[in-house]
Amino acid sequence: MQRKDVFVSEEELKRQKEFVQQVRGLYAEKGKTPKALVETYGCQQNENDSERIKGMLSEMGFAFTDSREDADFILFNTCAVREGAEMRVLGNVGALKHLKARRPDLIVGICGCMMQQEHMVKKLKSKYKHVSVIFGTHSLYQFPEILYKAVCKNERVISLIDSEGRIAEDIPVYRENTASAWVSIMYGCNNFCSYCIVPYVRGRERSREPEKILEEIKSLAQNGVKEITLLGQNVNSYGKDLDRNVDFADLLLLADKVSGIRRIRFMTSHPKDMTDKLIETLPKVKKLCDQIHLPFQAGSDRILEKMNRRYTKEGYIHLVERIRTAMPNAVFTTDIIVGFPGESKEDFNETIDVLKRVRFDSVFSFIYSKREGTPAAKMPNQVPEDLKHKHFDELLDVQNKISREINETYDGKTVEIMVEGLSKTNETMMCGRTSGGKIVNFPKDDALSAGDFVHVKITKISTWSLTGERV
Ligand code: SAH
Ligand code: SF4
Ligand code: F3S
Repeated sequence: MQRKDVFVSEEELKRQKEFVQQVRGLYAEKGKTPKALVETYGCQQNENDSERIKGMLSEMGFAFTDSREDADFILFNTCAVREGAEMRVLGNVGALKHLKARRPDLIVGICGCMMQQEHMVKKLKSKYKHVSVIFGTHSLYQFPEILYKAVCKNERVISLIDSEGRIAEDIPVYRENTASAWVSIMYGCNNFCSYCIVPYVRGRERSREPEKILEEIKSLAQNGVKEITLLGQNVNSYGKDLDRNVDFADLLLLADKVSGIRRIRFMTSHPKDMTDKLIETLPKVKKLCDQIHLPFQAGSDRILEKMNRRYTKEGYIHLVERIRTAMPNAVFTTDIIVGFPGESKEDFNETIDVLKRVRFDSVFSFIYSKREGTPAAKMPNQVPEDLKHKHFDELLDVQNKISREINETYDGKTVEIMVEGLSKTNETMMCGRTSGGKIVNFPKDDALSAGDFVHVKITKISTWSLTGERV
């Protein structure tokens, strides 16, 4: 595909804007402010997509609610990465049947990654008749038109585009968080790790133009945002598809110059794309946080090869060492899959060995889930459920001990944190994050708000967070 064809045309975006006004008009005629509830599953990319959907809804005159009873429109933005996530969505959607029967005006919709899979759309069409809006990630920009048809004609609208997926710029974004923001720098993935559905539901890698990204970051800074997270399935391959000479290292340096922003994070990066240039650049990016999320997935070279990850165990460990030399305070986090087809006890022990040698601050571990259409789903020697769970529990025990030991080194230390808001578990406390991404709780102070920077002396340690007092 030619680069210019990657973008949704301006005419098309203009056409969608007209539908925004039409939906606004429909509800104005009814004399009410419609309310929407958007439930998001899956990764930050989906969170960011939901912010875009809410941006469009807001322009259509919608207010937002957390109550299903109150909502005129309920939309599930779904994730397909594991079976568990899909089952949860289907359960929640199914539970709305009664509400829809009681309130026929209610519009129920499903969008996101699950809806890029043909078998799933088929299932919804036949078994979930109360769902009237269905669209995949590639049709997100057509949401105003889809909703218009659903509201106006009270008919079922299914919009699926099975093309590669495009970039739609200048869609409004509704952000609830005033201090931190996700900024998508690219969409899609080209890696085809053999277990993963993402490349099939998100399409090929496509990078936004650097000017557009910087424009967005500048505008966020002007609106008081202090921290940005550059988002993509594989951010360190940013720019490979651009017909100009800009890569992820260059983009980090450009973002670093935007005044007002104090912290820059990024996720996720792939070990195979951590170039020497990028490692040398990391310490030069002054606002870069000390947190590197670098998934290794498995420790056994045999399994890594079957996963199509394109690095080895020792290669990964050496990479961590090189990044640590460049960024001595770097905090590492990772993703791990337990129970990939053919993973033996010996293979699993290699994963444990990586945990012990690297000493991640925290890990996101997942039990392997068979995804229809991926090569791994057809591989022999699928690991029995009970063994997967046994290894999973073992891994958690090892990691929890490491996380706790690392947190204990913070006892008595003073750290700088950016305030995020009230603690979710204790009304008398607030919370914030260190540059390394650690959650720190401290006594509430009404004078503080999200985005303020304060120093906290750590007095209490737990496996997942730190607690302290302001100094
Ligand atoms: N692009 C990112 C994130 C991909 S999805 C990356 O490459 O790291 C987030 C995590 O889900 C992956 O890192 C992987 O650990 C996990 N995952 C993906 N497919 C999975 C599957 N079929 N079963 C279990 N976990 C899976
Ligand atoms: Fe999936 Fe691999 Fe792409 Fe990550 S890099 S999204 S794990 S295919
Ligand atoms: Fe899930 Fe789609 Fe993200 S499958 S992990 S929401 S890209």
